[in-house]
Amino acid sequence: MAIDFGLEGAVAIVTGGGSRASGVGNGRAAAVLLAEAGAHVVVVDSAPQNMAETRSLMAERGTDALLVTADVTSPQECADVVRQAWDTFGRVDILVNNVGVAGPSGTVVDLDLDAWDQCLRLNLTSMMLMSRAAIPRMRAGDGGSIINMSSAVGLVGGHPEVAYPTTKAAVVGLTKTMAAHHGPEGIRVNAIAPGYVYTPMVHSQGIDDGAREQRRHAAPLAIEGTGWDVGDAVLFLAGPRSRWITGVVLPVDAGLTATLGSGGAPSVTSVPGPPKAPGV
Ligand SMILES: NC(=O)c1ccc[n+]([C@@H]2O[C@H](COP(=O)([O-])OP(=O)(O)OC[C@H]3O[C@@H](n4cnc5c(N)ncnc54)[C@H](O)[C@@H]3O)[C@@H](O)[C@H]2O)c1
Repeated sequence: MAIDFGLEGAVAIVTGGGSRASGVGNGRAAAVLLAEAGAHVVVVDSAPQNMAETRSLMAERGTDALLVTADVTSPQECADVVRQAWDTFGRVDILVNNVGVAGPSGTVVDLDLDAWDQCLRLNLTSMMLMSRAAIPRMRAGDGGSIINMSSAVGLVGGHPEVAYPTTKAAVVGLTKTMAAHHGPEGIRVNAIAPGYVYTPMVHSQGIDDGAREQRRHAAPLAIEGTGWDVGDAVLFLAGPRSRWITGVVLPVDAGLTATLGSGGAPSVTSVPGPPKAPGV
């Protein structure tokens, strides 16, 4: 018997619910699984063509979504997304803040300042803006669940670039602070920290089979993760099955972060070079 996630009729907004290439990204998987669980899903993406495959996957499963083209770095466009969700479905229950990019390379000494600002805007401020627009609607309903996409690299140091892990660590701070602020309103806020997930974000960087194997074996379970693994975590955190859980950061990483601390750290958004330490 299928698991009832208690999501029938709930309204869920998923940002970055397209994928930059064919395949199953984290946002795409979350959107498809939420729809399959009975939610009305609003898929948001700045690139309309990236949402087509999300809709096809939904159609294969007998579901559909409202597709909205919007840039989540714009306060006005975030407000418009939530208004469209409200006007169409009459409530907003779930917000998945999934948009995130690898950002610029470099250390604090040599990275490009404009690119740093843009990375903060995309990976962090967008989550604040979407939450700011959605929370009043959640308050007007039965509360809600917000899920912010962090990363395993937001939990540990050692990443070769400074911008990406800094934003992902900030997502952890945002999540815990929001959980405390909005818990009394019945709004739960949690984060997911994916590890080496094989998604279009990763394969569009041209990763070869050797690097894929290396990533797979970096974590104790030695199983390659996909967007579906992240989507399943979203499904759990979105609905009443996690009603007593807020302010947590859930690693979805085959145990990767559990093994760290003895040298080396993952570079989740980049293709790893030769291992620095056994298994990392
Ligand atoms: N793939 C991994 O290994 C991995 C690991 C850890 C964390 N993550 C996180 O997962 C999230 C992304 O996962 P994904 O697989 O869905 O990525 P993806 O790149 O496949 O899809 C992201 C979508 O976001 C859209 N987008 C980009 N900027 C936008 C904007 N300003 N407004 C609206 N939409 C915008 C893109 O058009 C794209 O379709 C990110 O937050 C990323 O940091 C990924």
